[in-house]
Amino acid sequence: MLRSRWAKVAVFLLCLVPFGRLAWRAWNGDLTPNPIEYITHFTGDWAIRLVVATLAVTPLRKLLHLPDLIRFRRMIGLFAFFYASLHFATWFGLDKFFDMHEILKDFTKRPFIIAGLTAFLSMTPLAVTSTKCWIRRLGGRRWQALHRLVYVTACAAVVHYYWLVESDIRWPLVYGSLVAILLAYQAGSWWRKRRTPAAAKTVGGAAS
Ligand code: HEM
Repeated sequence: MLRSRWAKVAVFLLCLVPFGRLAWRAWNGDLTPNPIEYITHFTGDWAIRLVVATLAVTPLRKLLHLPDLIRFRRMIGLFAFFYASLHFATWFGLDKFFDMHEILKDFTKRPFIIAGLTAFLSMTPLAVTSTKCWIRRLGGRRWQALHRLVYVTACAAVVHYYWLVESDIRWPLVYGSLVAILLAYQAGSWWRKRRTPAAAKTVGGAAS
């Protein structure tokens, strides 16, 4: 089932559902009394969820013995970037009206913005180089090394979230714990690979 073209279509549509919900609410004028805040929170939530989902693909495919799950990783990652771009654009365009003075003031007044920018900037090269053409251009090893930036994205996104909440830190802690578990899993897998060079060949192709 996971190998079929329809599975990819299904994952694509599933990742579009939040955007559809947002568009529907916007169309109906149902974006709460503070639409900018609502869109910022909604897109930020989906960006971080999909970053974590992208990180979870490799461990899940190994633990569940479902190698075909890898077919969806790039798409999920690109959707994470899509929601992060909407999130960034909402802040930049709707909230700050492209006013560079206000934007620079926000960086100094609200340091969590710097963590958000770090997360966003570290996602950008991943999205740009996600094509087969870029894998060929960079070569597998360099491409894989670059794509480890996803861990920087995930950590920066958690710091961003943790920093911005004022009292209820439950969700930042949930995301932080998930990222820590996934990072520990990946670190264990790299460590095993270094210790057993023979395994490196087999695991290498699937590393994230
Ligand atoms: C330049 C990039 C970014 C900027 C300027 C930015 C800005 C913001 C702002 C202004 C808020 C609302 C803060 C408040 O309510 O006081 C927010 C919330 C949030 N952002 Fe970002 N952000 C950026 C990047 C990211 C990225 C890349 C992610 C995830 C991958 C992310 C995830 C979140 C989350 C999860 C929330 C909280 C949502 C909630 O409370 O439900 N942000 N961000």
